[in-house]
Amino acid sequence: MPDLLITGCSQLITLQGPVPRRGHALSDLAIIRDGALLVGDDRIRAIGPRRQVERLPDARRAEKLNLRGRVVLPGFVDSHTHLIFPASRVAEYERRIEGKTYAQSARKGGGIRSTVEALRRTSPVLLKDRALKFLYEFAAHGTTTLEAKSGYGLNWKNEVKILKILCELDREQPLDIVRTFLGAHVVPPEFSRRPNAWVDLLAKRLIPAVAKAGLAGFCDAFCERGAFTLAQARKVLDAGRACGLVPRVHAEQLTHTGAARLAVELDAASADHLEKLNRADIRTLGLSNVVCTLLPGCSFHLGLSHFAPARELIAAGAIVALATDFNPGTSPTVSMPMILSLACTQMRMTPAEAIAAATINPAYSLRLHDRLGSLDVGKYADLAAFEVADYREIPYYFGVNFCSMTMKRGVVIHSKKM
Ligand code: NIG
Ligand code: FE
Repeated sequence: MPDLLITGCSQLITLQGPVPRRGHALSDLAIIRDGALLVGDDRIRAIGPRRQVERLPDARRAEKLNLRGRVVLPGFVDSHTHLIFPASRVAEYERRIEGKTYAQSARKGGGIRSTVEALRRTSPVLLKDRALKFLYEFAAHGTTTLEAKSGYGLNWKNEVKILKILCELDREQPLDIVRTFLGAHVVPPEFSRRPNAWVDLLAKRLIPAVAKAGLAGFCDAFCERGAFTLAQARKVLDAGRACGLVPRVHAEQLTHTGAARLAVELDAASADHLEKLNRADIRTLGLSNVVCTLLPGCSFHLGLSHFAPARELIAAGAIVALATDFNPGTSPTVSMPMILSLACTQMRMTPAEAIAAATINPAYSLRLHDRLGSLDVGKYADLAAFEVADYREIPYYFGVNFCSMTMKRGVVIHSKKM
């Protein structure tokens, strides 16, 4: 592949500098005005002001791509999704509008369990095809890397079915997909009267088998009333850690359980949701290396007025990230730009903070920060160009997708006519 010289970046948002970003550094986007990049193979070979990059001998010989004033940023890293599911839960959505809560639907056999039942009946071919369509949409909204969890299979056969689809998708399409085993999503129907037996099976057999087969790099647990207790989550995550699966936790979403402290104790890569944090949790997280992955799409879609305390977390020095939590129950969106809008208006993050929280910090939580999450020499040429006059317009125009070009490892994978 010949080198490619990309010019016409009115604002080139590099995110160069400290990794991860905390406190004041979260709003430092390291912007280059009238910037350019030289891309060779899948990597960034040079980056800087246009005049400087254009002068390089390799740049003169390179193919040219003029973005004509677009705002360019690192491709979004969406560090929390449940990509593989068989169908929407639109009836449950409508019942919720009529007044039934998420927890009420779950108790009545709806919720996660209904998706599990449907997934078990759905062929891998169909599941993969569905996921592929959504992956195109992720790319069209500027996402170049995503994490994806199992957790709608909840027996060996179907959890492996999900993880294998994710392996295939990672190989066969351009986006990077990082796999997380979420056998502790809810207690499967077969174990509803003996949840501890499921936790035992996870800890002793399934988690070691997933790790041995290389099916996931992370292990997650949904610690919540109606899902798993703190003690059960600890057992699952400990078992994962013992065989090399790094913990991530669904913590403090609908009720306070103590899972955020557990994440710190276990040195988890990430604690996710965090709507119900208390002051002590915020202090503890702020002093830790656990990434606080906030998912404002959930409160929005569930029609709840309570969002995670992003400002307090940032003030406490926490590493804040943003993700879609793409799933059929609480956050059916692929759009990181929409998540940025929610983060800004509902959690009072600034546009700059939101962009750092959607790129370099989630890359850190996935342990991929040395390869992606910022635009720097030697890193992947993973980037998204937006047809806006200023990066702040990305969250400002909510519900509008101005991503006009997405590049993954030097290849254009989405392009609107310019
Ligand atoms: O992150 N909280 C657990 N898992 C998802 C919801 C999954 C579902 O409702 O299907 C979440 O919100
Ligand atoms: Fe989730």
